[in-house]
Amino acid sequence: MADRTLIIIKPDGVQRHMMGAIISRFENKGFKLVAAKFMQISESTARKHYAVHEGKPFFEGVVKYLASCPVMVMVWQADGVIEMSRKMMGATFGFDAEPGTIRGDFGCSKGYNLIHGSDSVESAEYEIPLYFSQDELVDYTLADEDWLYGRND
Ligand code: RTP
Ligand code: MG
Repeated sequence: MADRTLIIIKPDGVQRHMMGAIISRFENKGFKLVAAKFMQISESTARKHYAVHEGKPFFEGVVKYLASCPVMVMVWQADGVIEMSRKMMGATFGFDAEPGTIRGDFGCSKGYNLIHGSDSVESAEYEIPLYFSQDELVDYTLADEDWLYGRND
């Protein structure tokens, strides 16, 4: 099966009316949406989500930020989706993210950064079940997949 990644439009992305603009980037790229949930993340789930950063100076702040307001949590699928989506997101904060990236185009903060994306297959496998059960991940074919991937056979 093609790779999957967990993408979250964070509280500032929702509050700043950026959901459509951010989702469009992934849709236009050709990724397949396999799950989506508009929800408020609990503090305990936010702690699990960022467990890899526990003990770092920004840990408590980032937990509070992620759990502060509703977010859009999604799973997107494509071959190589993790690396491609991390490139599309750009560097961690908008103030030094490249123009053309989501963080580079839509923000200039050194604290908020609009979006989360899994950074490895292992992270995606840890993060996706925090938000979705197996039966919430839908399996289907996009009508234009052969055109997207350029299969000639
Ligand atoms: P994310 O996990 O949210 O996709 O972001 P990322 O990989 O680009 O950055 P990461 O190093 O995993 O950091 C996780 C989140 O913690 C906050 N952070 N604050 N003040 C700081 O130095 C600092 N560093 C990271 C950000 O919200 C970042 O997205
Ligand atoms: Mg990260």
